Order: sequence, then structure tokens, then C-alpha cells
Amino acid sequence: MADQSDESSKRRVAARALAFVEDGMTLGLGTGSTAKYFVELLAERVRDGLDVVGVPTSERTRAQAESLGIRLATLDDIPELDLTVDGADAFDPALRLVKGGGGALLREKIVASASARMIVIADASKRVAQLGRFPLPVEVNVFGLASTTRKVERAAAEAGAHGPLALRRGPGGEPFVTDGGHLILDCRFDPIPDPETLASLLVAIPGVVEHGLFIGLASAVITDGAAGIEVVER
Ligand code: 5RP
Repeated sequence: MADQSDESSKRRVAARALAFVEDGMTLGLGTGSTAKYFVELLAERVRDGLDVVGVPTSERTRAQAESLGIRLATLDDIPELDLTVDGADAFDPALRLVKGGGGALLREKIVASASARMIVIADASKRVAQLGRFPLPVEVNVFGLASTTRKVERAAAEAGAHGPLALRRGPGGEPFVTDGGHLILDCRFDPIPDPETLASLLVAIPGVVEHGLFIGLASAVITDGAAGIEVVER
């Protein structure tokens, strides 16, 4: 296998996802460096006559797709989509994901859950036996940050997950602010022994807007296997 996280690997898994796209489809467009390749390759197909409408999962993806001439809509225009193609920070054998490394988890989860299918494109470095190595992003409201942080810690301990939480910061050291105007706590819970319990405890905390555990959403993961591109179905 080649370098597990090289750019050509990301491009290859993105290219394979095009096989799932059909003329006339409504598509959720993911965020991140792998999803960026997918949008780029999709735009080539659109220039060749493919007719699709995309719903972007971030302002970043919106800007890219718009600049490449992909027709865009919102979930208010099209509340149910045919397919979402998005990246992931980690996936386990049950196709449970950690997402939000790029800070777009809230819109990504809303768009994925509005889609009949979610196909994940992830190079081999994202494949894990157990979630937790990649810090879990938890999107929180600005109000009551210290109180919410404490509740997240307690919820994690109840679900058997332990480790430090850090407020995500931008390149200049300022707090990172999501497209929705919220903050992100990066939670170094390694391992996450019971993702389902952790997920249900996190959503019950009032200050938590969303968390990066995507459970039961991915229909398939396209990744690099020992024998080349592999489509792992749930
Ligand atoms: C953004 C995400 C991305 O899909 C995830 O971070 C993977 O990104 P990349 O393809 O750059 O590794 O969840 O919020």
C-alpha cells in the first residue's frame, strides 16, 4: 500500500465515489481536503453535461462548488437529498465515524441525515479498530462554555471515556468559530469504548449543539485497501 494519507490516495477515493452519482441526483457536498477532490472531479463531470444539484456542508465548500459552476441549493429548497459524499477523520469496523476535524460537523450531520445515502471517502489512515485516536469535536454554544465543558467531561466519564478537552483555536490563537457561530471542544478521549452511550449523553447537554460521532449514517466507506480501492458497506 502506498503512503496511507497522501494526496493521490484522497483523490482516488474521491474519484471512486463518482460511480455512485447519477444524472438528476441531489447531492450533499462534504467538507475537507478529500471532499474537495470530490467537488473538483464532480465539477468536471458537470462541465461534460452531468445534471446534479448540490447542497454544501460549509461556506468553504459552497465557495469552491460555486466557483466551479456546480448548481447549488439549500436544504430549505430540497429537504431530502439522494446522496451525500463526505470525508471523515476516522471510521471503525461498524462504520461509525468521527467527523468535524474541519469544523463543519453540524451542517455535515444535518445534510447527511437528510440524505438517503451517505458515502464516506477516507484514505486508509482513517481506518481504526476503535474510535478515539482522533480527538472528538464537540460543537458548543458560546454561552456557558465553562459549565458545558464540565458537563461534557462528566458525560464522557459516565460513558467510560477519559482525556483532556481543549477549546479549538484558529491560526492566530483566537477561538475557532464555526459557520453556525459556535465553538468547538476537541476531546481527547482515547479510546471511546461505547460511542452510542457517549453520543446519547452528549446530545442531552443543553449547551452542546452537536458532536462529531456519526453513528448509523454512513452506508459505505470508500477507502484504500491492500488490494486497491475498497468499498466497505454497512
Ligand atoms: C470536516 C470533516 C472532514 O470530513 C474531516 O475532517 C476529514 O477531512 P480530510 O478529508 O481533510 O481529512 O469532518 O468537518
